[in-house]
Amino acid sequence: MASLHEAATVPSHVPKDRVWDGDYDVFAAESDDPFRKVGELHAGPDILWVNRLARGMGGGKAGWLPTRYAIMREVLADTDHFLSGGSNLMGAIGLDWKLIPLELDPPQQQIFRKVLEPFFSPAAINALDGAVTAACDELIAAFANRDSCEFATEFAEKFPSHVFLDLMGMPRERLADFLAWERGMLRAQAPEDVTEAMTNVLHYLQAFVREQQQNPTSPLMKGIVEARYNGERPLTETEMVSICYILYIGGLDTVFSTMGWIFWHLAQDQALQDRLRANPDDITRATEELLRAFSAASSQRRVAKDLDFHGLQMKAGDIVLISLPLAGRDPQAYENPHKIDIDRPTRHIAFGTGPHTCLGLRLAKREIRIVLGAFLRRFRNIRIPEGERHSFHTGSVFGVDRLPLEWELCDPAAD
Ligand code: HEM
Repeated sequence: MASLHEAATVPSHVPKDRVWDGDYDVFAAESDDPFRKVGELHAGPDILWVNRLARGMGGGKAGWLPTRYAIMREVLADTDHFLSGGSNLMGAIGLDWKLIPLELDPPQQQIFRKVLEPFFSPAAINALDGAVTAACDELIAAFANRDSCEFATEFAEKFPSHVFLDLMGMPRERLADFLAWERGMLRAQAPEDVTEAMTNVLHYLQAFVREQQQNPTSPLMKGIVEARYNGERPLTETEMVSICYILYIGGLDTVFSTMGWIFWHLAQDQALQDRLRANPDDITRATEELLRAFSAASSQRRVAKDLDFHGLQMKAGDIVLISLPLAGRDPQAYENPHKIDIDRPTRHIAFGTGPHTCLGLRLAKREIRIVLGAFLRRFRNIRIPEGERHSFHTGSVFGVDRLPLEWELCDPAAD
């Protein structure tokens, strides 16, 4: 457990014994496994005041950090006291829009969600199955006859853009652009490169939405352009672009990152590989357990009005970081939380909970299941080559930047 002590800049409403004068991102990166590392915070109080929260969401600012799964559930469910505001993702490109529905609060947020929900229903996601499988197979084909790949760049980075094009009904010719933008958004070192990629995506989506109003090319886009806000008025063009934008970035970093951690674990767990290869039906439960243990995304809330929360005085405007990596490894919620046990019952919140629960969760789980099945059918003894290691970043989404893998090819005749 890191030291708890007084820090000079702490606001007066924060009790001294709750202050953790650490940097969440730096601390998390001190081990090969940032999920296990942040779990060390469970040895301390249930709610900490942290001087530097995760970059991205908390912007590296100071704020509250609940360490318990149960308290995070409470915060996410309580939209009277905890508002979604504060992330302002589009601020990076000088826009003061709110991303819909993520950066809105109920009831407005729920009105927009109702428009989108039918396109993420089980039936709608079933209908995307073929496209997701084709995207996965197409990417694997590039290294299917080799005995190795660099998983992050050759697969995980590209996969979400493929799926996004199919979800939106965008032309395949745009794939190269989307991959370049994706790379800029996920991997650029210089902030101006991220800004450039975000701006390019914005311009493309603006033109796309204009075309779609004449001739929608997917059920989702038809739903968006024909929607009535509260049954009353069509959505504005800005609202439509905002929705498309969150669908892109919502499923980009999260899917890339989650896949990276899942394969990092899988490459070190031959027993799990063997079990899933022999019993593909277990891939569904394995996906849930891996999502619990590698809940890579975090979120944040802003305190709406002064309140007493678990004996602490929180002030309007305080930031609360919802660290889902911490939720997934909470020993009060899961026995032996660092162990991957696909037979345990799991009720994880990798996709959040409450009114903002991830709209794309069914699609994301489907993507993970399809990818696990596809790799395990083709390759056995998937592992990290001797002397190699992964590299990763922390922040509002813990992500694997590099993951060298090697394997032996499965013998199709043996199946
Ligand atoms: C493993 C992959 C994913 C993870 C871990 C993930 C995680 C999350 C989390 C934690 C939230 C809640 C944020 C909050 O409460 O502040 C969220 C919301 C959201 N996600 Fe995902 N997500 C994933 C994939 C996707 C995909 C594939 C899409 C769309 C194609 C998507 C679209 C959204 C949207 C639109 C929201 C906002 C919902 C709302 O505010 O009502 N996500 N996601």
